[in-house]
Amino acid sequence: MAKLSSAFFYARKLIRLTLNLSRPTLFRFALGHYYLNKDDLCVLENALNKGRDDALIHQFERRFAAEIGEGECVSYAAARMAFFDLLQVLGVKSGDEVILLGFTCSVMANAVLRTGASIVYSDLDEETYGSNPASIQRLLSPQTKMIVAQHSFGIPCRIHEIQQIARKHGVFLLEDCAISFGSKCDGVPLGRFGDAAIFSNDHTKPVNTLIGGLLYTEKKEISRAIRAIHQKHPDFTLDHQRDLFNRILFERAYYYPRRYERGDLLEAVGELLNKKKSQTRPVLLTDEYTSPQKSISASYPYPARLPSFLAKLGLLELERWGRTKALRMNRLRRFLEKVRSSGAEVKIPARYMDSSCEIVPLRFVYQAPDPGRNRALMSRFVDPSQFWFAAPVICCEYGLSDFEYQEGMCPTSERVSANIINWPFAVPDEFDRVLDESFQSVLANG
Ligand SMILES: Cc1ncc(COP(=O)(O)O)c(C=O)c1O
Repeated sequence: MAKLSSAFFYARKLIRLTLNLSRPTLFRFALGHYYLNKDDLCVLENALNKGRDDALIHQFERRFAAEIGEGECVSYAAARMAFFDLLQVLGVKSGDEVILLGFTCSVMANAVLRTGASIVYSDLDEETYGSNPASIQRLLSPQTKMIVAQHSFGIPCRIHEIQQIARKHGVFLLEDCAISFGSKCDGVPLGRFGDAAIFSNDHTKPVNTLIGGLLYTEKKEISRAIRAIHQKHPDFTLDHQRDLFNRILFERAYYYPRRYERGDLLEAVGELLNKKKSQTRPVLLTDEYTSPQKSISASYPYPARLPSFLAKLGLLELERWGRTKALRMNRLRRFLEKVRSSGAEVKIPARYMDSSCEIVPLRFVYQAPDPGRNRALMSRFVDPSQFWFAAPVICCEYGLSDFEYQEGMCPTSERVSANIINWPFAVPDEFDRVLDESFQSVLANG
C-alpha cells in the first residue's frame, strides 16, 4: 500500500513538472554560475581533487575581507556556523539571551537554540526592513549577551543608533549581513559597525559559492579565538564535496531564466532514482531550515569548514563583483523610477530614497496594497513561494513556536510579512529589459 501511494505521488509530481515545461517562469531567486567556462570548471575540479588547501582558503578570506575593511574573515560551510562559533567564543549559554530580528531565517534561531540560550525577537523597522533600535532598546535585559542587527535585502538598517545602544549597555553587537554585501551607510561598508559581522554566500546570496559563509571582525582577540576553534572543525566528506560540485554543474545549466522547469523535472527523476538506491544527502544543508534544533539529525558536520574548491569559486565571483554590483544598483534606480512614475500605491522601504546610503540590492522589496493580487500577477514571472520573510521566521515547517516565536511578539514584522513582495535582482544582464517589463506590467495592473 505504502509503495503504491509513493508511486502515485511520484507519478503526479512528474506529470505536473512535465506540464510546467510548457509555461516556464522567467526568474527565480537563485541564479546558477552560467558564466563559468570549461577552463573555470577544470580549475574548480582540480581544486576539488586536491582537497584541503589552506592557502586558497586564506586567499579568499583576505579578498572578501578587503571588500569590507581592515579586518579579518574566517570562512565556514554556512554563515549560521560562523554565528554559532561566535556564540561559543563569547560563552553564550543557558540562561543568556540573544536578540534576533523577528524577520530572520530559522537557521539563525537554531544556532542560538544549540547553545541553550533563549531567543528574544525584536520587531522590524518598516523604513529599512531591518532591525529596529527602539525595539532592541525595550528588550535589553541583564541577561542580554548579544544584539544581532540585521540588514535585509541589501538595505542598511538603522545601525548607528543600534551601535550606540550596544556601546552604552556594553553588549556585543553582531551585524547580520547574510543578505547584504557591499552596501554602505555614510560611506562605511556594512559589517564595520558591529564587533563582528556574518556574511552568507549560499546560492541565493549576493556572492554565490553554492553554500558558505564568513565571519568578519576587526577585533584581533575575536579573530584569534575564532581561529583557535575553527582549526578543529571538520571538512565535508569527499562524497559530499563531489555532490556540491555536481550541483554547481546542474545549477549552471538549469538555474537560468526559462530553464528552471527543465531542471525541476530532471531533479525529480534523479530524486526518484536515488530514493530507490536509498541515497539521499542534504547537499545544500537544508535540514536545519525546517526542523527546530531538538530534532536536527547530524547528516553533515556542524560547524564545518568551507570546502577549498568553493573558496576558488568565491574568488571567481569576486572578480565579477564590480560588474554585478553596478548591474544591481542600476536596476534599483530603474525600479524606483518606475514606482515613482507609475503612481502605483506600493509602499517601498523609505531607506531606498535615503542619499546617505549606498544600496547594493539583492532583491527589490515592497508592500503591495493587495498582496494576493500582486503575487498572482507576478507568478507568471517569478515563483512567489520563494519570497523571503513571508513570515517572521522563514523556512520552518513545524511552526514558529518551535523557534520560540509567539504570534504578536513582533507586530510590524507580522504586518510587513503578510504584504511583502520580492523581485529577484540576481538576473543576468541580458534579461534586464524583460525584468523591467515584467515589473512594469505588475505595477500597472496590481
Ligand atoms: C538574514 C539571514 N541571516 C543568516 C542566514 C544564514 O545563512 P547561511 O544559510 O549561510 O547559514 C540567512 C540565510 O538565509 C539569512 O537569511
